[in-house]
Amino acid sequence: MKKSIQIQGYTFTSLISENNISERVQQLAEQINNDYAGEEIVLLITLKGAILFAADLMRNLDLELTVETIIAKSYGKKLTSNGDVQIIENINKFSGKHIIIIEDIIDTGNTINALTKKLFDYYPASIEICSLILKPESNTSGISVKYVGFEIEPKFVIGYGMDFNEFGRNLKDIYIIED
Ligand code: IMP
Ligand code: MG
Repeated sequence: MKKSIQIQGYTFTSLISENNISERVQQLAEQINNDYAGEEIVLLITLKGAILFAADLMRNLDLELTVETIIAKSYGKKLTSNGDVQIIENINKFSGKHIIIIEDIIDTGNTINALTKKLFDYYPASIEICSLILKPESNTSGISVKYVGFEIEPKFVIGYGMDFNEFGRNLKDIYIIED
């Protein structure tokens, strides 16, 4: 029997358990540890959705790293994303660095695409994306994501940092909206 919860009048059912998330996060960290062995990196955490993912991932990284945060929002979003992306941060400090952008979820890919393009203007040594969740069917941006935790169908999810109208970020499991 799947766990079911109510958030802001909508019903969500359990999709990915805390244990499965934890196992997958450790695997992603191992992959990053291998790929960047001997390198110094910058983890660029997108607020607010990626905070729990980033915290758990970072604990498993065995590299010399610094942490930065950024706010990238696609506006007008309730259950779907629109294309208008605003980035609030001074990004010129990323020049010459190996950056890994830590994202909670990629839906249309517009947010991460806009952020990546802006960062490239500042000549980083490299940029890769690490997203806990990818919705491949809705990612029309053409952006390629090197590190993906889970691929899911194009439906709204909450929990483990991800919100619906700012609620649900504290849930330990990831939940999907019921039709
Ligand atoms: P995109 O620009 O359409 O890829 O949307 C990316 C951003 O929208 C993510 O970083 C999330 O903050 C938010 N988002 C997209 N899909 C979901 C979802 O299913 N649940 C919660 N937030 C989402
Ligand atoms: Mg996000």
